[in-house]
Amino acid sequence: MNNRVTLTRFIIEQQANVPDASGTFTMLLSNIVTACKEIAQKVNRGQLIGVLGSAGSENVQGEVQKKLDIITNDIMVNSLNWTGHLAGMASEENDEFISIPPQYKKGKYLAVFDPLDGSSNIDVNLAVGTIFSILRCREGVEPEEGDFLRKGTEQVCAGFVIYGPSTMMVLTTGNGVNGFTLDQGIGEFILTHPNMRIPEETSEFAINMSNQRFWETPVQRYIDECLQGTEGVRGKDFNMRWVASFVAEAYRILTRGGVFLYPWDNRDPKKPAKLRLLYEANPMAFIIEQAGGLCSTGRERILDIKPSGVHQRVPVILGSKNEVQRIVDYHLQS
Ligand code: AHG
Ligand code: MN
Ligand code: MN
Ligand code: MN
Repeated sequence: MNNRVTLTRFIIEQQANVPDASGTFTMLLSNIVTACKEIAQKVNRGQLIGVLGSAGSENVQGEVQKKLDIITNDIMVNSLNWTGHLAGMASEENDEFISIPPQYKKGKYLAVFDPLDGSSNIDVNLAVGTIFSILRCREGVEPEEGDFLRKGTEQVCAGFVIYGPSTMMVLTTGNGVNGFTLDQGIGEFILTHPNMRIPEETSEFAINMSNQRFWETPVQRYIDECLQGTEGVRGKDFNMRWVASFVAEAYRILTRGGVFLYPWDNRDPKKPAKLRLLYEANPMAFIIEQAGGLCSTGRERILDIKPSGVHQRVPVILGSKNEVQRIVDYHLQS
């Protein structure tokens, strides 16, 4: 049991190979880990501590906030703002990016996060998560919004924590993807899923079918062909899953392959896509690509998009390589 690799040890050993590493990144990650352990506790205790249900407020996304959307956001912000490692933060739950309070030192990184992903699942006791991404910032300056608007290829690190039957953290620093399980007994994340790889082939898709009538032709075509099963051009039967927690869909795909689509749709011209580029699509795209998968809008690689705002939304198609490539080809042909 003594040779178990904790997340802290893993990061310290990985950073040892990075020239000029000052330890700042290691400490920043450790602060994120602490925040996520605190969130895990809150999520786990649920109604025992009265944290379920709606807060009655609305966020900048136009979504009714759950109490836990606000509580988890406060935990993230208050665990990271004093550390001296960050120049600023941006979150799904804050209209504007978050400055570091003047009494604290400013550092060379930016953190962007979705503090509670899948929050519609919280009251029905299904898996939820936290998604985060770390970017570099110009040092010693008060950041402007433009400092956050970096392509996904520039991420230093991306990760998510899933609060499911086990609490797990999945992490990449651009050198593969590793999964850690929280050992509640000792309060440490332990490396349990080294070098996660996504199978290139799959016969499982995830999409919210209730939006079918609003999709574009290439997505209609792809899903129609999956549904035709052995009788159609694909010549095989497909299975479907939809958890409505991005973290849970991504974790399933990392474990056994699959394809996830939250495509463009024409329901509401003001909101042509649902998922947010900075703190949902980009971190997941980094992780999925590092595990051998692909992530696209259908027309463009997610990681190559130059963001236009911190809350920008994009269509997301990600997962097993050959399947995502097929959907991208259908977009090119349309
Ligand atoms: P969040 O809870 O952070 O607002 O994100 C919800 C997202 C994502 O987790 C999931 O993939 C998707 O919304 C589900 O959307 P539908 O409810 O439209 O299916
Ligand atoms: Mn939300
Ligand atoms: Mn989310
Ligand atoms: Mn959220």
